[in-house]
Amino acid sequence: MAEPPVILIANGPNLNMLGVRDPAHYGTRSLADIEAACEERARVLGLEIDFRQSNQEGDLVTWIQEARGAHDGVILNAGAYTHTSIAVLDALQICDVPVLEVHLSNIFRRDAFRHHSYVSLAADGVICGLGARGYLLALDAIAALIGDDETG
Ligand code: DQA
Repeated sequence: MAEPPVILIANGPNLNMLGVRDPAHYGTRSLADIEAACEERARVLGLEIDFRQSNQEGDLVTWIQEARGAHDGVILNAGAYTHTSIAVLDALQICDVPVLEVHLSNIFRRDAFRHHSYVSLAADGVICGLGARGYLLALDAIAALIGDDETG
């Protein structure tokens, strides 16, 4: 049987604090809750996930570099590095697999400095403002992109 596609779900700084961090913006679910929900959705979609979090910008860069050849798609919530990191953007531009950008909060309804995303310059799609559900929708979308779903 063919190996299932493997999706890297990479989470940036402070996302390890979900559950206690500003629930008005980020909800009450922990990152472990989100990972469990992603595992469940991935199983239904026939995908495997590699779910990670780091507070270090360089970890995100290295993971994105390594995704080339190791993963079939990337779902990225780069946290605040979304708005600051040219290094993350450069890594994404070398990445040759579908990339979906996710944010729990609607970054366009928040502070002006959150309105610009370096990640968006390289992402195939962006989901924001839908809370943890955004990760599941990103998995649905990436499954369609990998499967070359013609309904797009
Ligand atoms: C975030 C939005 C960013 O602006 C913020 O810095 C985060 C989380 C989100 O998921 O809504 O850390 O990426």
